[in-house]
Amino acid sequence: MRDEIILKPINQAQHSEDALDLAMRAADYATLEVGHAPDDAYILDFFTAVPPDLEPDCLMHFGIMEGPAMVGIICIAEGYEFPDDWWIGLLLLDPAFRGQGVGRKVLSDINKRARERRIALLKLAVLAANPRALKFWHREGFTHHRDAPATPQSDGHDRIVLKYQL
Ligand SMILES: CC(C)(COP(=O)(O)OP(=O)(O)OC[C@H]1O[C@@H](n2cnc3c(N)ncnc32)[C@H](O)[C@@H]1OP(=O)(O)O)[C@@H](O)C(=O)NCCC(=O)NCCS
Repeated sequence: MRDEIILKPINQAQHSEDALDLAMRAADYATLEVGHAPDDAYILDFFTAVPPDLEPDCLMHFGIMEGPAMVGIICIAEGYEFPDDWWIGLLLLDPAFRGQGVGRKVLSDINKRARERRIALLKLAVLAANPRALKFWHREGFTHHRDAPATPQSDGHDRIVLKYQL
C-alpha cells in the first residue's frame, strides 16, 4: 500500500507532455480504447473533450502524483449527466502503480472533493472489454446504471455505465 499519493490539478498548457509520457507508459489501456498507442490527439482529447451541452469550464483534470512523479491521470466533468453528477471521463494509472491500492486512494480523494461540492452521484462508463476495471469499480461500491452498447455512430465499444451514490 502506497501512502504519499496526492491529486494535483493539471492543465493542458503546462502538463500535456507529462500526461503523454504517462499515457505512453499506460499504452495498454489507450490501445484497448482507441486501437493505437496514445498520441498528442489522445492527450488533447483528455484535456478538452466536453460532454454534450456543457462548457469547457465543467472539466477538472488531476495528476496522480507520488512526489514529483506523475503516476496517473484523472479527468472529471461536473454536471454530466445531471447538475449534481460528476462524470469520471478517464482514470489511468501507470501499470507499475496498479494493483497496490492507488486507485482506491484516488477515489477516496475524489469522494471527499465531490462531497465538498455537494455532488450526489459519481458516474462513469467502463469498456465491456475491460473486465479488470469493471471488477475494480464494483469492488469500490459502484453499481450498474445502464448498458451503453456500441452504435453505428460510435467507436465500436460496448460500455457499461456505473454509478456511486455519495
Ligand atoms: C482500473 C485501475 C484504475 C484500478 O486501480 P488499481 O489501483 O490498480 O486498483 P486495484 O489495486 O484494485 O487493482 C485492480 C486490478 O488491476 C490488476 N493489476 C495489477 N497490476 C496490473 C497491471 N500492471 N496491469 C493491469 N492490471 C493490473 C490487479 O491485480 C487488480 O485485478 P484483480 O482484481 O483481478 O486482482 C487501474 O488498474 C488502471 O489504471 N487500469 C488501466 C486503466 C483503466 O482500466 N482505467 C479504468 C477505465 S474505466
